[in-house]
Amino acid sequence: MTSFKVQSDNVKYTDDAIISTYVYQDTRVERKEGQPLIVKPIEETYMFKTETKLPKLGLMLIGWGGNNGTTTTAGILANRHKYTWQTREGTQTANYFGSVTQSSTLKIGVDENGQDVFIPFHEILPMVNPDDIVVGGWDISSVNMGDAMRRAKVLEPDLQNQLYEEMSKMKPLPAPYYPSFIAANQKERADNVLKGTKQDNLEEIRKHIRDFKKDNDLDKVVVLWTANTERYADILKGVNDTADNLLNAVKNNHEEVSPSTIFALASILEKTPFINGSPQNTLVPGVIDLAIRENVYIGGDDFKSGQTKMKSVMVDFLVNAGIKPISITSYNHLGNNDGRNLSAPAQFRSKEISKSSVVDDMVASNAILYKENEHPDHVIVIKYTPAVGDSKRALDEYQSEIFMGGRNTISMHNVCEDSLLAAPIIIDLCILTELMTRITWKRPEDTDYKRFHSVLSVLSYLLKAPVVPEGTPVINALSKQRKCMENIFRACVGLPPQNDMMLESKAF
Ligand code: NAI
Repeated sequence: MTSFKVQSDNVKYTDDAIISTYVYQDTRVERKEGQPLIVKPIEETYMFKTETKLPKLGLMLIGWGGNNGTTTTAGILANRHKYTWQTREGTQTANYFGSVTQSSTLKIGVDENGQDVFIPFHEILPMVNPDDIVVGGWDISSVNMGDAMRRAKVLEPDLQNQLYEEMSKMKPLPAPYYPSFIAANQKERADNVLKGTKQDNLEEIRKHIRDFKKDNDLDKVVVLWTANTERYADILKGVNDTADNLLNAVKNNHEEVSPSTIFALASILEKTPFINGSPQNTLVPGVIDLAIRENVYIGGDDFKSGQTKMKSVMVDFLVNAGIKPISITSYNHLGNNDGRNLSAPAQFRSKEISKSSVVDDMVASNAILYKENEHPDHVIVIKYTPAVGDSKRALDEYQSEIFMGGRNTISMHNVCEDSLLAAPIIIDLCILTELMTRITWKRPEDTDYKRFHSVLSVLSYLLKAPVVPEGTPVINALSKQRKCMENIFRACVGLPPQNDMMLESKAF
């Protein structure tokens, strides 16, 4: 349950739901050539219904035996068992730092003394406790999860030793391996591979999801890709442009259907939400079409963990301060298996595309600084350096034009412990996606509540290149993305958006 109750005629608590009536206030703008903009405030009434009964939830990770997969699993188990372990700094306790749902707070209001009152983010609406999530998944490498955790070299040895026995009993399910999609240097890992045609693989994965649900007595499952970055699939007319064409392409074993797309299709056909945590275009138009048709949630692309998170804060700050970034140059070097895979040109290209568009909305928002189609130079370099392991280095230089033609240069050196940043994001994606399956909305005149659009853009805060419903804007600025999530959840309990005006402390 949540730790607060809203007292308002607009909010009703029933045995199994919270129902709110919410007046959405916004503005609509009309443009007429040569005339001032006409700006009209609008009000629209929505009703939100949030089911409060929490399901028994499963998370199936594709790439389970990788650095992210093992770190996520280990993190959940360590928290569940309340493990502590010794480090050079002393005793460390399991936590969920880096998870916006578990370790951040939001302001619920102001008390009688004028002081802000905060609650944990996860208490705004009932959310599944990550300790209770049952984790499973697939990997083309057959190594058990205990040894895979050791192979990842992410967690402290004392913690690894405590987790080893339990994790070594976990074995990844076999997965499709189509060599053209990931780097050739991954071949030696691929000893746990599904045989047969793409159609056979699709059916097998559907069965894996059904079996996992049944064997663990789960109410719901979320499937999430955290396997190697694939190359982009070509978008071909008649192949992956519509749901039916794509399903036919699978039947015909078409070469442009990637493993990640097979997983997305299998999940959607099993009415199971699917999230893509890597940069490739898994969510081809045919996948999106199928998700809409089957009314299943999908989200992507590419976890926003270190360098890009910083970039979507930094450029937002600069542009909103009236400072004009003219060049952004980003160097990464990393030494984990992800870095090894990204050392191949086609896989690097997927990452480059995903990292490139991240400042577009901020630049487009300021016509004083940027002329139409003007853009800062934006360069991305990634190099594989085995010795740095999972402690990815991100070196960024932001050069900006300031007052009267001056230049301001900010250089950053960011050591991103990659999987320790990504694992809490994976947990958030799972928890928030499940929550969205319990929230429905309608207009007062409608009889039935319905789901949101199948493309879950509300997850954008956690994703580097957010996929959004066709024709809607992509938001990359981190603070806007967080506000979007927070304010939608506040609306579900009948609370106004966070406005930060604090008039009560200014207008005496
Ligand atoms: P990793 O290389 O340690 O793990 C990937 C795993 O996927 C490997 O165990 C591999 O055997 C497995 N795999 C490859 N193809 C597969 C398939 N078809 N089916 C099932 N398993 C398959 O990589 P890591 O560090 O865990 O990263 C995973 C993905 O997450 C990468 O694509 C990376 O770019 C992406 N990512 C990671 C971030 C981070 O760690 N901070 C941030 C953003 C994205």
